[in-house]
Amino acid sequence: MTEAWRPEDDQPRGASGPVRVRVPAKINLHLGVGPLRRDGYHELNTVYHAISLHDELTARRGDTLTLTMEGEGTGELALDDSNLVLRAAHALAGYAGVPPYARLHLRKQIPLAGGLAGGSADAAAALVACDALWGTGLSRDELAGIAADLGSDVPFLIHGGTALGTGRGEAVSPVLARPTTWHWVVAVAEGGLSTPEVYRELDRLRDAGTAGAPLGSTDALLAALRQRDPAVLAAALGNDMQAAALSLRPALGATLKAGEAAGALAGIVSGSGPTCVFLAAGESDAQRIATELAAAGVCRAARAAHGPVPGARVV
Ligand code: C5P
Repeated sequence: MTEAWRPEDDQPRGASGPVRVRVPAKINLHLGVGPLRRDGYHELNTVYHAISLHDELTARRGDTLTLTMEGEGTGELALDDSNLVLRAAHALAGYAGVPPYARLHLRKQIPLAGGLAGGSADAAAALVACDALWGTGLSRDELAGIAADLGSDVPFLIHGGTALGTGRGEAVSPVLARPTTWHWVVAVAEGGLSTPEVYRELDRLRDAGTAGAPLGSTDALLAALRQRDPAVLAAALGNDMQAAALSLRPALGATLKAGEAAGALAGIVSGSGPTCVFLAAGESDAQRIATELAAAGVCRAARAAHGPVPGARVV
């Protein structure tokens, strides 16, 4: 029996109009770095947290795959096939068996090489945007599976919120806690730091015995999140990579001091740095601390943000 013809059979699957996806930056509330593995990655024990500093990716139908951009890093970020956005689009198209055609446009607010996983965020946004544009209809878990091959932080940016990360960071499970909004100040540095270089510096400091004691388990941080008290969370924040980032960029010491002098409950280097993040007691404190930090000349820009926020989403 032949099936009846339906008008939609002649239409391409997926969205005809532009698809706009917003994706957050990540910080690590706890970043425990274990030993270097044989595959060149370090074993991690981390608590990821998505904050309200966003990039936006728009996907339109096209006859080829192209990428344009505006905002942070324009002119610096390569827009060729080495770009994680295009690598993500190719990876999804290969997985789903569709042609990798789209016109992608990126609006960046997350600084390059800042320790906020901006490149990984853009890759996550590309997976979600192309999945909607092409009508490939993958689940979040399937997208996170493709994401893991693109970078250790990419699966978290598909999910967002607050989540535990293990393995090299790609194994993500959500932290279930009563909803609480935390207020942060993000101090963006002049220039970036290379993540592999910061890991190498940490290995060097550890070999020399000057890296400080490793953080260990995430238990104290998870207990602090449940208490919903910013002063308690402040005392539990920690980052094993901070010593290495400070060793490569000693000026970050002054940024951390200035934030705490301005009334932040705690300041830490975000991921591999050089961005520093500060926990504030509330929203107005975060705004005031951001203004003071910007005026103190200890960073390129400072802005208030909150978390947790969702991962890459069509808006
Ligand atoms: O996974 P991703 O591509 O973001 O990692 C970039 C680099 O950071 C890796 O090549 C590796 O040098 C370092 N890295 C690491 N351990 C991790 C994650 C990243 O050493 N868990």
